[in-house]
Amino acid sequence: MSGAATQSQRRTTAGNGRDLWVPAPARIVALKDENFNTKTFTMEFTDERLRAEYRFEPGQFNMVYVPKIGEAAISISSDPHRPQQMGHTIRLVGTVTRAMGRMKVGDVVGLRGPFGTGWPMQRLDGHDVVIMGGGIGLAPLRPVIYWLLQHRKRCGRVVLFYGCRFPEDRLFAEELQGWEKGGELDVLVTVDNATAGWAGPVGVVTQLLRRVKVTGERTIVLVCGPRILNRVASWNFLQLHVPAEQVYVSLERNMNCGFGLCGHCQYGSKFVCRDGPVFCYADIANIFAKEEV
Ligand SMILES: Cc1cc2nc3c(=O)[nH]c(=O)nc-3n(C[C@H](O)[C@H](O)[C@H](O)COP(=O)(O)OP(=O)(O)OC[C@H]3O[C@@H](n4cnc5c(N)ncnc54)[C@H](O)[C@@H]3O)c2cc1C
Ligand code: FES
Repeated sequence: MSGAATQSQRRTTAGNGRDLWVPAPARIVALKDENFNTKTFTMEFTDERLRAEYRFEPGQFNMVYVPKIGEAAISISSDPHRPQQMGHTIRLVGTVTRAMGRMKVGDVVGLRGPFGTGWPMQRLDGHDVVIMGGGIGLAPLRPVIYWLLQHRKRCGRVVLFYGCRFPEDRLFAEELQGWEKGGELDVLVTVDNATAGWAGPVGVVTQLLRRVKVTGERTIVLVCGPRILNRVASWNFLQLHVPAEQVYVSLERNMNCGFGLCGHCQYGSKFVCRDGPVFCYADIANIFAKEEV
């Protein structure tokens, strides 16, 4: 665990003097059911100054603290141009996330962040952008789409590929339709299992690559999904001659501190919370190659 220190060895403060270990109270101001086990919580810091100062980059995450239960790393899924209202799209699967599922509008949780390295927004200039998300992986990619819609002229073609298990599982279903109709990006959605009324593609999300021509050298790729998708998608894009330096993947590891102190999220020689969660494929190719598929 080179570079890591124990929690008791060091206290750490942010540039604004805030202790990075201490969650700040944030109120849930809106709540939306996305599917059977996923909800989007919109939150605002209760402290006016903190609310005004807070900024985040697409791809960063907050540590969400449920009083008396614990903390979980959750990506910020909302519009980076409106940082006072932070969206967190949460799959209710474990201790903290299930406790979040019992929370209502008006309830207060704790937030620490934003943490991590986001998507390479400045590198998108002049490039085609291919975004590939699987399941809950669309959540950290949604801020990229908001950013692209604001800065649309800076990039070439933008394609969003999204895959989930059932049509009913789609996150942000109305927005997906809106983006498709808006014509500013191409949106292709596939499901593993079609149910009544689904007329779209069926199959894993990487199969959608057959439907679109990707021009390798001028394309930047952003991928977030389950571990297997991250690996297979990255390899598929390399086969389509996208340089490894232009493929970015967002990874998940168990987190504790969230800012490079405790070593919980170690990934090879890197810490996912500090060096990621977004990594350039070229920087992690060796670690990827050693992992079991
Ligand atoms: C950088 C980063 C960003 C993240 N962003 C998000 C996000 O935006 N939204 C989000 O929902 N999560 C996100 N996660 C994942 C989240 O932090 C973890 O899932 C976390 O463990 C949840 O805490 P918990 O206490 O609820 O779960 P825990 O009590 O820690 O339990 C997690 C356990 O749930 C089990 N589990 C996981 N998935 C399933 C499933 N589908 N069905 C049944 N069991 C399951 C696993 O066995 C795992 O051991 C992110 C993680 C990282 C590192
Ligand atoms: S080093 Fe503590 S969570 Fe990454």
